[in-house]
Amino acid sequence: MTARIGIYGLGTMGSALAMNMATKGIDIAVSNLEPEMIDAFMTRSGDVSDKVTRCEDLAALVQALPTPRLILAMIPSTGPIDALIDQLMPLLDKGDTLIDAGNADFNDTRRRNEKMEAAGFHFVGLGVSGGEEGARHGPSMMFGGSADSWDGLKPILEAIAARFEGDPCVARLGPDGAGHFVKTVHNGIEYADMQMIAECYDLLRHGTGRDLAEVAQVFDGWNEGPLASYLMEITAKVLRAPDSRADGPIVDAIVDAAGQKGTGRWTVIEAVRLGQSATMIEGAVAGRAWSAERDLRAAVEKSYGNERGTVPLMSDRLEQAVLAARVLEYAQGFRILMAASAEFGWDLDAARIAEIWRAGCIIRARLLDDISAAFRAGPPQGELLLSPAFAEVLEQGIPALREVVGQAVAAGFPVPVLSGALTFWDSLRQGHGTANLIQALRDFFGRHGFDRLDGQDFHHGPWWD
Ligand code: 6PG
Repeated sequence: MTARIGIYGLGTMGSALAMNMATKGIDIAVSNLEPEMIDAFMTRSGDVSDKVTRCEDLAALVQALPTPRLILAMIPSTGPIDALIDQLMPLLDKGDTLIDAGNADFNDTRRRNEKMEAAGFHFVGLGVSGGEEGARHGPSMMFGGSADSWDGLKPILEAIAARFEGDPCVARLGPDGAGHFVKTVHNGIEYADMQMIAECYDLLRHGTGRDLAEVAQVFDGWNEGPLASYLMEITAKVLRAPDSRADGPIVDAIVDAAGQKGTGRWTVIEAVRLGQSATMIEGAVAGRAWSAERDLRAAVEKSYGNERGTVPLMSDRLEQAVLAARVLEYAQGFRILMAASAEFGWDLDAARIAEIWRAGCIIRARLLDDISAAFRAGPPQGELLLSPAFAEVLEQGIPALREVVGQAVAAGFPVPVLSGALTFWDSLRQGHGTANLIQALRDFFGRHGFDRLDGQDFHHGPWWD
């Protein structure tokens, strides 16, 4: 019995992770519901097939593993994972670990963890980012589960993880749903980053009149500076790619309706539940929802037209604006993470999360190195926005952001994420805001009461005298 870990589910991501392990010299056992996918994987494993034990079904997979067993499932994190748990529990021994490496709702992970732990097993919610390429050659992985299960899995996960200057991009972030929650917020940031990129593309191409090659050049340029990131890099590549089936660039041949599997939406839902508001992620989720309303958009355009003005934007000014907005985006993401950490007693380490996002994952970006350093230095109130490391970026970038949003709004370009960034900033820098009026109204119609600035122990307006 040589296999150290079993992989169940040999779809795109499962087989890529399995191949990553085998090529790192880790002996694995593999299985899948449909046997033809096991055959396909065995063929694919080629040179490293001696590292792979083929198992016809789940029972054989369990039999092929030494105890305490480690079984990683890469199947849909919805009903199929629940069904797998039910099938597996009678086959496992106490102390065995099941890892759900899909994009699960962390609430489900907490429920599944409770069920398996009560029966003496470990359940791990593992967030895996980086797409197929990442899974095959080095993903970023966010681990939520018991310390015991981490001890067993750490050497395997560190061997297959992406590395940032030698540091493996994987960490135990907390128990139960912590890993899947962090992955969800990662995806929320991914949504906001992509929507922000799309807004910049629109402003540059249709607002300033640059052609696609010039827009691609702008993204290439940004990728050389403080905005350097995987998403900037691939944006330039995508904008340059031709349509292989017709004349013109491929981007012009794609239907303008964005899909979504749910993680961005979950981020917003959880943020609101935690009393937070991630305006930028909300803007991105809204952007995708509106994009799906193609018939309505066409009808409104037909009735009212889509006249848009020009935007006299300099690309370096836009770069400064986007950099400030990215800092605000991460500030929002980390606020959600820290709120969840307090709510669920996870003790999340913000610096370590930023560190394991520096390579392998979709949002990997140069800025994350500065963010992790800022968290390591301990910013006032634990707030990224108060870190001296970002004072200059914000002082220079906010006026640029204001200029960009102002021009976009005046010219009729929708910028839900860029404007969401500015709204967040302008709300936060108000030491004294306008909620006094909200409180007065609440008291007026519902006798809800309010606190007085002078501290007097009288909590109602004259309308109740
Ligand atoms: C990643 C990605 C990955 C997946 C998203 C896409 O980190 O590798 O986030 O998990 O591409 O889930 O999500 P949508 O389909 O919702 O855009």
